[in-house]
Order: sequence, then structure tokens, then C-alpha cells
Amino acid sequence: MIKSTLQMARESYVPKMPESLNGGVSIVVGDKTQSVDDQADISGMFPNTYGMPILTFEAGGGPNNYPAVNVGVILSGGQAPGGHNVISGLFDGLTSQNSQSCLFGFLGGPIGLMDNQYIELNKELVDHYRNTGGFDMIGSGRTKLEETGQFDKVLENCKRLNIKALVIIGGDDSNTNAAVLAEYFQQKKSGVQVIGVPKTIDGDLKNGMIEASFGFDTACKVYSELIGNIQRDAYSAKKYWHFIKLMGRSASHIALECALQTQPNVTIISEEVEQKKMTLQEVVDMIADVVVKRAADGNNFGSVLIPEGLVEFIPEMKSLIAELNDMLAKHEDEVKLFESNRERREFVAQNLSASASSVFVSLPSSIANQLMLDRDPHGNVQVSLIETEKLLIDMVKAQVKALKKQEEFKGKFNGQAHFFGYEGRCASPSNFDADYCYALGITAAVLVAEGKTGYMASVRNLIAPSQEWIAGGVPVTMMMNMERRHGEMKPVIQKALVDLKGKPFADLVEHREEWAFSTSYIYPGPIQYFGPPSVCDQTTITLQLEQK
Ligand code: FBP
Repeated sequence: MIKSTLQMARESYVPKMPESLNGGVSIVVGDKTQSVDDQADISGMFPNTYGMPILTFEAGGGPNNYPAVNVGVILSGGQAPGGHNVISGLFDGLTSQNSQSCLFGFLGGPIGLMDNQYIELNKELVDHYRNTGGFDMIGSGRTKLEETGQFDKVLENCKRLNIKALVIIGGDDSNTNAAVLAEYFQQKKSGVQVIGVPKTIDGDLKNGMIEASFGFDTACKVYSELIGNIQRDAYSAKKYWHFIKLMGRSASHIALECALQTQPNVTIISEEVEQKKMTLQEVVDMIADVVVKRAADGNNFGSVLIPEGLVEFIPEMKSLIAELNDMLAKHEDEVKLFESNRERREFVAQNLSASASSVFVSLPSSIANQLMLDRDPHGNVQVSLIETEKLLIDMVKAQVKALKKQEEFKGKFNGQAHFFGYEGRCASPSNFDADYCYALGITAAVLVAEGKTGYMASVRNLIAPSQEWIAGGVPVTMMMNMERRHGEMKPVIQKALVDLKGKPFADLVEHREEWAFSTSYIYPGPIQYFGPPSVCDQTTITLQLEQK
């Protein structure tokens, strides 16, 4: 791989580490835990791994003499900046515990575990990827491990390589896989441990013990740079309204963080739309109102941030999607047989309830088609494929046209649609993500050495300098509840949506009226890797507001 001069300079970056991970570690065992909800169901499904205590690492343990072990690692789900540093930390942790330990990287995510596709990771290879973005060292994938046949294959492959533990670096769905696998391996008394690591740019894998998933920091900084650039262009040319959809699946954390970093004219937060039970038309009215008022001041330009999961939160759309999920799962084969989207739409409309059907047929055909696309292997609607930004531009345009006829709008409206997601997922990790990920990797290595299973690596106190971060392990079952997937109730890690009582959202609410009309854009500029900590090491505004 040919590297840019920046990448070469980043190779020598040494991640800053928590004190507790710098030498021998002693482990403080906390109280027993329980799942966030549905305790009876979850404890029944995870009899061997439910209720385990929280573990906190402290500095000052004696020299630990750990035997040499073989460990497997996978990257699972969507890319997130910092994945290579988790692997570097894991590799360094394992080999510093015992220089004879081996790390195998399974290729292409969970499928590599089943098909026994792997490479042995050595120092030369790991060094090559330190502090780089992407998941290309071993690749990633979204295969869901849920059948005993799959688990048995994974176990067989682990036995073949004499693997003591698997480390699964993934989001809520992948860590749900990790918990299920850990339970199965315990039930089989296989001796193979499973440890999870919290990854996702979406920021929705967080709770009291997991303050942030890695990648959120870098991705938000990349999107905020782009939004800032677009806003500066809008302010310079004064002729376009930019509608910017941001990745994040159901949760609006990315949209909220980017809003706090850039101060756009309108920010839609899906969780608020749901709480206020806003219809699609009301969302459009809200945007059109700002467009009209800004035009009255001569400002025929602006910015609108849209979370990619918005459609799932508009009550009439939410009910439609829930019905569609069950219906498409039931009629999967029939739906695939239709040759045209028109026939498919007709079939779907006939098989929905009257209310869902009337919403479905009222949608532009492009959006109806996008809603019928395959769910991902975990049963989620692929919201990244739904062009909400274009739908909203069209609807706002129609609205202002009607207002123009009544002479209530005298300005101009030209919309430009953008979707930011893939642009940020493989960016070079910020210093925060480089440090955080490396610490998560070392933490996973300690959990492996200590014989733990069904745990997620946790590094907390993240707004303090990294030396003061607190590392440890959290039982994955503690984060679980029951949810409907593919038409069935399944145990899954509860997604953290934007807390409408939380400080980050309160900050947006406090300022949004002013940001709507005063054009007080912020242009954050690119991520800085070298320079004073105040410029290079600060994490997200969300985390700072949440933790303060
Ligand atoms: P994860 O939940 O696996 O981390 O994925 C994050 C994400 O980037 C979402 O924001 C987005 O909706 C989705 O992946 C897109 O998936 P794909 O990469 O399969 O297009």
C-alpha cells in the first residue's frame, strides 16, 4: 500500500493510554448486573452469561504471567474510523502478555469465521495499519450468526486453530451476535471465550458503561467539515438551500452532533418528530416556515440537516414500515418474482392494512420502491437507501410554490440534495479515536487473558485526559432487551436514541431559533492531527455535554 505523507507521519503516532493499562492490571469486581429490560426473557435465554458483574481495571497489579494463547478477531458491520487501532491494541496487548501468543484475523466479518478464512497477523502487518482508517486489513461483513449450525462451524474452526477467544469488533447487532455466541460456547463447555468491542459511527451503542462507540468522533468531524464548507458556499453564493442527509440509522446522534458543530438553519431530530407525533407534512411545514421567513429577510439560502432514519419516526411511516417488515418477511419469495416495481408495489399495497396501504400509495413511487428494498441481514430497513433529502426538497418546493400563489412567499427556493455517510466511515481516526480504539484493544486483551466471556470492552471517563480513562469489562446481556426483528421477538442490544431530556438536545433547542434566522454558521475545518491538544484531542460536543 502506498501511503501519503500524512499517513507516513501518522504511522509513528503513539496512542495516549489510560494509566491503568500501562503495566500490570488488577481487577475490581462489581455487583451483579441485569438486562435493561425484559429480564425474565433475557435471563432465560442466557442462563450461563446473564447477571455477571461489571469489571474495572486498576493500575498496580503484580506482573501477570499469562500463558501463550491463540485469539481470533473480526471486524463486523459498517466501517468506522479506528478499527485498525483496536486490532493494533489487541495485538500489542496479547504479545506483551506473552510473546508467543498469536492473533488470527478472520476475513470479511462473521462469514470468515464460518468459512475458516483467516490470516495470521504479525508485527509487520499490524505496524502497516496503525492509526489508519478503514477496515481493509481484514475486511468486514454483515452476516448474522444465529443458527446452531453456524455456531458449530465457528467452534470447529476455533478448535482447529486452538483458539482460546474471539474478539468481535462491531455495533449493536454484531455485539448481540457476540453475546449469543458466548452463551452457546459456554453451554457447550467449549472453553472458547467471546469478547465484544463497541464500534459504530452511528453513536447508538452507548449506555452508562459504554460512553461512546468508536468512530463517531471522527465521522462527525468529517461530516461537520463538509457541512461547514457547504454552508460557506451557500453564504457566498446565496442561491441554494442545501438539504443534507446524514448517516446514523435510526438514531439522530450524528445529525445532532454535526448541528452543534456547525449551527445550520434547520436540524431535524427524528426522536423529537416521533415524540411530537409529527406527520410528514408537518415536518415539511416546519422547514418551509424557515425558508419563507429567511426569504423575507432576503436570504434565499440555507442548510437543513436530516437524520437518515427520519422516515422510521414519522408515526404513519413507522406503522407502515413495521407492517412492511412483517409482510415482506412473510412473502419474501413471492415479492422477488415480480419483474417490475409497479407490480411489486401493487402486490404490497394489497397485502397491507387499509391505513398502511393508503400511506404507501400516497408516497412518490421512488420512495415506495426504496421502502420495499431488502432488509439487512439483521432485519433493519436500509435507511441509507431512502432518499429522504430529495423527498423533502420536492415537498418544500411544492409548499413554497403554493405560498407564492397566495403571495405569502416572494423569494426563491432552489434545493440541493446531499447524503453524507460513506465519506466519513473510513477517515483517518482523529487522535481521540486513535487513542480510544487502541485502549479498547488492550482492554479486550486483558479480558481474554483473565478468561472472561460475554463481556464488552469498556473505556470510560472519556472527556478527561486519556491517562485518566477507566478501562474494564461490561456484560453484554446487561445491555439487552427483546425487539421485533424479521417478524419475531429476538434478544438484542437496546439502541441508544437521542435523549430528548439530555443536554446535547437541550443545547440545540436553546439555539435553533437563533441559528434558523441569523446565519451564524460555524466552519469547523478539517480534523487536525498535530498541534495543541485544544485543537487536536477534543472529542465530540455531545460527549462533553453528556459527561459534564
Ligand atoms: P453499523 O451499524 O454496522 O456500524 O453501520 C453503520 C452504517 O454506516 C449506518 O449509518 C448506515 O445506515 C449503514 O451502516 C449503511 O450500511 P451499508 O454499509 O451496508 O450500506
